[in-house]
Parts: sequence; C-alpha cells; structure tokens
Amino acid sequence: MTKTLRRAAAALLLCASALTAPLASADTDGKPTTATIHGDRPGPVYDKRIFTQFAEHLGTGIYGGLWVGNDKSIPQTNGFRNDVIAALRNLAVPVIRWPGGCFADEYHWREGIGPRNKRPVKVNTNWGGVTEPNAVGTHEYFELLRQVGAEAYISGNVGNGTPQEMAEWIEYITAPAGSLADERARNGHKEPWALASFGIGNELWGCGGNMSAQYASDVTKRYSTFLKVPAGKTLVRIAAGANGGDYNWTEVTMREAAKQLDALSLHYYTLPQGGWPPKADPVKFGETEWADTLAATWKMDELIAGHARIMDKYDPQKRVFLAVDEWGTWYAPDPGTNPGFLRQQNTLRDALVASVNLDIFAKHADRVRMTAIAQMVNVLQAMILTEGRKMVLTPTYHVFEMYKPWQDATVLPIDIATPWYNKDKFVMPAVSGSAVRGKDGKVHVGLSNLDPNQPNTVTVKLDGINVATVTGRVLTAQAINAHNTFDAPETVRPVPFTGAQVSGGTLTVALPPKSVVVLDLQ
Ligand code: AHR
Repeated sequence: MTKTLRRAAAALLLCASALTAPLASADTDGKPTTATIHGDRPGPVYDKRIFTQFAEHLGTGIYGGLWVGNDKSIPQTNGFRNDVIAALRNLAVPVIRWPGGCFADEYHWREGIGPRNKRPVKVNTNWGGVTEPNAVGTHEYFELLRQVGAEAYISGNVGNGTPQEMAEWIEYITAPAGSLADERARNGHKEPWALASFGIGNELWGCGGNMSAQYASDVTKRYSTFLKVPAGKTLVRIAAGANGGDYNWTEVTMREAAKQLDALSLHYYTLPQGGWPPKADPVKFGETEWADTLAATWKMDELIAGHARIMDKYDPQKRVFLAVDEWGTWYAPDPGTNPGFLRQQNTLRDALVASVNLDIFAKHADRVRMTAIAQMVNVLQAMILTEGRKMVLTPTYHVFEMYKPWQDATVLPIDIATPWYNKDKFVMPAVSGSAVRGKDGKVHVGLSNLDPNQPNTVTVKLDGINVATVTGRVLTAQAINAHNTFDAPETVRPVPFTGAQVSGGTLTVALPPKSVVVLDLQ
C-alpha cells in the first residue's frame, strides 16, 4: 500500500473509531506507541465469567476430548480424561457452557439420565450426522464441573422443547425435595447441584427455531416465566441474543423482554476471507490472511459498543449484561476431518485473536460480564486438541493462561496511541492492550503487537501506580502460522520476557513483532 493510500485508509478507520471509541487510537505512520494507564481511575470488575468455556456435543468436543467413559487406555476419573482436566484446572476455567450451541435446541435432558446403557442413542443432526450416545448427560456434566472447579451454565431447549420440560430440568437439578429430587437421588446424586446460569435457547434467529426478533422475545418471556429455583437461590437468565451486527434483535429483545432477563447474548465469529461459509485455511496462510483475520476480530469492539448503546437506552443501570457467549475464529476444517466436526488447528494468529478480544472485553467490562470462547476442546478456536491418548495445548490456551490474573480483577483504563499496521486493504492499530489491578494487588498489563514484521516500543505512563519492579512473559514464534502439534507441542509457548523496564512512573516495553506480552508490576 502506498503512503497516500495508507493515510486514506487510516483516516477512514479513525472516522470509524471516533464512532466506536476503540481501545487503541491509531496515530500516523512512524510514531512510537504511547499509552497511559489510569491507576487513579479504577473501572469495573473484569468478571471471571469472561473466561467461560463452551463445550458442545459436537465432533470430539465432548466424546474423546473430555469423556472417554470406560476406555481404560486413557487415564481417567469417572469417565473424564485426567490430562485434559488437569490442563483446564490450570486455566482456572470459571464456567462451562453446555450442551450447545445448536445441539441445545434439540436436546432432551431426560435422555441423558439414568443407567447409561439404557439411554437412547440418537443422531446428532446438527454436527456430522453421527450417533449421540447420550453418555454425557446432566450427572456427567456436573461431575465435569466438579473436576474442573467450574460453575454451571446450561442452555435449555426452546427450539423443540417445552417450557414444562425446561422447568422440570431445572427442578431436577436444584430441588432439595420432591419427586424429581428423589429421582435425582436414585440416579446417584442426593444433594441438589448449584445452577448459576441458564440460557433460554440458543440462536433463536437460526438453528434455535428461525424466529423473528418479535416472536423470539415473546417466546423468551414465556420460557423465562418458568425458570424457577428454590427459595434463597438465584439463577442468571440469559436470552439468546443477536447474530453479529443484528442490532434490531437487541432493540426488540430489550424493549420487550428485559424485565424477565439478567443477560442477553451476542454471537460473533472471526471469519476471514469473505465470511460465511468459512473458507480460510487454519494453518496455510500468508500475511494478507493474518491481517484479514485480525481486522475481522477488531470488529468485536464496534459490535459490543453498538449493542451496548441499545442496552443503555432500556437499561441505563446496566443490570442486564451482555454475554458474548460464542466468539473465536472459524476456519475451514482441518483436511481429512469430518467437516461437521469443526476441527481446526490453532496458530500464533489465534493467540493474537484471543488477546485482542480479551482486551476489548476489558474496555467494555461495565456491560460485558460473561463471554465464552468457542470451543473448549477440539472444536473451532480450542484451548486443547486431542487425538486418542495424545493431547496438546494450543497458542490460545497459553493466552488464556497468561491472562488469568484478569479474573475478577479491577479494570484500569488504558489509552493507547499507536501506529497503524496494514497489509493490503486490512488496516488496524498495531498495538492492543489492557490493564487490571488483580486480586493479588499487583497491576497486570497485557500488550499485543499485531504487526508481524516490525517491533514496537511502547512507552506507558503509569498514573497513580507505584511500581518498583516489572516481570513478564512473552508468547511469540518465528512464523505467523507457528502452531503446536502432538510431535512438537512447545513450538508456541510463553517464555520469560526481559524487554520491559520501569523508571520514574514510566514503563517501557519493547514488543517483538507478532507477540503477546503480559507484565506483572509491583
Ligand atoms: O459453535 C458452533 C456453533 O456456532 C454453535 O452450535 C452455534 O450456536 C453457532 O452457530
């Protein structure tokens, strides 16, 4: 791109940015990146539920990836593989969303309780037409949560289920007494489980029933009426929200149903190379596809801002939160895999997608109190990939691990003025970042350099923050498409970072090209 073209593109983006108030404002070519962290103006809590993971009955996301049942060749506890559980515990996964996705709106919970060998074997009509053994049902899900140490977020069946079926599922899970509690006890669990959040269907505009916004909001109100938990317990009721930029959906749902809701969802996938259907190769890509993907992921900022503006109109107190409960990259499936399994490799590019989104959620933490990356194991932008006994952690896993101190931390506002990075028509701020004061009292700063070619030195003014030392880790690699395999599992992994200094209230960080850096200040 010529300098003039680049300036024109930059001007365009600046106009768009002015509307959406991005978390980084881009400056003209060649200037260094500067930032200010406002420790003296603490913002909202960065809710730990922003690190929710999504696990759907899809491909090997559950069967094989988490659940191995009686397969004694894979070390397991009560059917769940020990290696994957240990990796998830290390991430401190706060919540697991289950059983779908599209799967949820055809799922009948009664088919997943009782003796496993008596449960009906169905066809998974959404994902690959394979058999669904119903081996993982309600009891197994709560066992998974127990092992991981996570809270429950169940998506109910609005699509082809009834309000009665949904209400009875909640009673089966939460009731201390009564026939459904007795049935639960007969099936092996006397005590009620804690049910934190419940989704009123999924994508009601699509696989959840192809409804109009008006019809869906009426249906949502009806189902919500019957979501009852025992006295003294609470349940977060989450409505199936908009697809990407469908602002009318949010407008209608907030106008019609806000009183009966605690949250409204938003689904936005990063789909490079022309959008739907997903065409981009997860691994074989060049700089243009790198830039295309990262530019597409920046759109999350604009989308949240747009939906939040509508929510502000109906709910200025911000009681109803936005749950971005499906996000992440969606590429063409790995060659040789069942296309219905949505299995894709995960590269350094995905790591940057993750860090940029986690930064965007910090900026909008007043309204965004839950998000769920899609999905946890073996599906789309996964944390973990498995094949038989083998397991590997992806670059995305490492970003989630590096950002752990953000869980329930206090957001510290950050202003970033950074040069543009562009490739062909794809233009974006070169540096993304966020900062928090963690529950450990330390300030944690995340900075990502999206430019795969140029290093970027960031000078950060620390307002109201007393710091003596800085330590940190960096995630980067030689190639933009570097990834971990079962044979080479450590190609992309965080290592100690020595490129940061602090002196006289200023932090200086020498970001390598294509890198994610997380710093601890104390
Ligand atoms: O995550 C895969 C699918 O994407 C989910 O089942 C659905 O909700 C969305 O369209």
